[in-house]
Amino acid sequence: MKPRIAILISGGGSNMISLVNAIKYNKINALPAIVISNNSNAAGLDKAAELKIPTRYIDHRKFSGNREAFEKRLHNLLQDEKIDIICLAGFMRILTKSFIDQWNNKILNIHPSLLPKYKGLNTHQRAIDAYDKISGCSVHIVTSELDGGLVLGQRTVDIESTDTAKTLAEKVLIEEHILYPEILNKFINDRYMK
Ligand code: GRF
Repeated sequence: MKPRIAILISGGGSNMISLVNAIKYNKINALPAIVISNNSNAAGLDKAAELKIPTRYIDHRKFSGNREAFEKRLHNLLQDEKIDIICLAGFMRILTKSFIDQWNNKILNIHPSLLPKYKGLNTHQRAIDAYDKISGCSVHIVTSELDGGLVLGQRTVDIESTDTAKTLAEKVLIEEHILYPEILNKFINDRYMK
C-alpha cells in the first residue's frame, strides 16, 4: 500500500508543488492525500487545489496561543485522513514534543541550510555573514529539538561574493525542489516498501 502523505505549508508552497509533481510522475511511491496550512491566505493552498489535491487550513490564531488545542485539531485531521507521513514544507509553526512523539519518525522537514549549521531562521544571511563558501539544504526527521533530527540528505550550492540572502535563497530553493522528492522516495522505499 502506498503511504498517504500530508504536506503542511504556511506560504508559497513551491516545495509542496515539487513533492506533488514527483508523486504524480511516479517518482515517489505515495499518495498526496492532503495539503494543510495554518494560514488561510497561503498561496500554496490555491496551487494545491489547482493540482487537484484536497486542501484544509487550520488557523492557529483562532486558538489564541493554545498550541495543544491547535495541534489536537491538526492531529485529528491527520488521523481522519489516515496519514502515514507528514512532510513539513515551509510550515512556520513549531510543533510540540507531544505532537511529535505521536508521529515519531513520521515527520520530515526541509531546511534551507547545511544542518547542523544555521538551525532556525535567516539561514541565508547567517551563511553570508559567516563568509561561508557553500550553503545548501537538508531534509531531516523532525524531533523535538528544532531542526535537530537525523539528516537524511543534503544538496549544496556555492556562495558567490555577489550573493545576497535573496539570491542565495533562490539558488538553494532550486536544490530543495530536487532534494525533497528524492529523499522522501528513499525514506518510503526504506521503511514502507520492504
Ligand atoms: C523553503 O526555503 C524551506 O526550506 C523553508 O521554507 C521555505 C518554503 O518555501 N522551510 P516554499 O513555501 O516551499 O516555496
